[in-house]
Amino acid sequence: MQKNSTVIISDNRNSSLAKKISLDLHAEYKNTELRIFADGESKIRLDNVTKKNCIIIHSTYPPTDQHLMQLFMIVYKCKKDGASDICIVSPYLAYTRQDKVFVDGEIITINLVGEILASLGTTKLITIDIHNPNTLNYSFETIDLTAIPFLANYMKKNIKLNDPIVVSPDEGGIERAKKFAGIIKANMLSLIKTRDRLTGDISISFSEQHSLKKRDALIVDDMISTGTSIIKATEILKKNNIGDVYVICTHALLLDDAKEKLLKTGIKQIISTNSIPNEFAKVDLSSVISNYFLNQ
Ligand code: R5P
Repeated sequence: MQKNSTVIISDNRNSSLAKKISLDLHAEYKNTELRIFADGESKIRLDNVTKKNCIIIHSTYPPTDQHLMQLFMIVYKCKKDGASDICIVSPYLAYTRQDKVFVDGEIITINLVGEILASLGTTKLITIDIHNPNTLNYSFETIDLTAIPFLANYMKKNIKLNDPIVVSPDEGGIERAKKFAGIIKANMLSLIKTRDRLTGDISISFSEQHSLKKRDALIVDDMISTGTSIIKATEILKKNNIGDVYVICTHALLLDDAKEKLLKTGIKQIISTNSIPNEFAKVDLSSVISNYFLNQ
């Protein structure tokens, strides 16, 4: 990629991350002007990017549909201008949890998003700790980066733990938790999460008995949305006389009163990245993203 023709693009919402990345890559930064009309429609203005290698930094956390539509608009503008390359960096990409049909008639939204982005001219998509990286099966290149080593190193450096055990709240998160446990040199256990596909209700149980008395638990997950998964995991750990409980995630959506509910369960600390602005963001993703481009 030629340095002098690269441009990093973002709206104000994503500008802090985007500006750091543009400095790291010695690339030009372009801000999009955004206006939201009374009916909720977005209007976006972006300078001309003809023949530029465009890197669009754009997370799509709530309001999800609006932010996704804004991403489509920016990609569309880059394509219409004749950008030479359109790479999206969406640390949090929405609609990626529905990656299969669980109940007849459902729509696989992860594929829908990919098909729209492909039709708009996207050449590459970079995500961070997407729910299941194996399900990104797009017609253009996709890369899922991980913030897990950065989160694990943050814990190692900053928090004194008592005989820690890393916990995955479900079997889908085992690889992430294993990686985390390897870095902090701790054991790992996975809980079993089952979901009623009609009501959405979840239940969490142990696959086998573990001796957890007074050990500190580090629950590692890709995201906290309503907080239900983490609350149920914490409750079962507490029943087994666990010590302190720390929750570590890449994407802290923390919807509605999730934060209050989590802290009420007795969780000692929540630690996340800044993929979504929140008070628990301790790990800055700019170096995760910049390192990827600098090593290309
Ligand atoms: C799903 O399996 C994910 O890995 C997360 O555990 C889940 O999305 C978190 O959602 P919530 O906070 O609503 O339980």
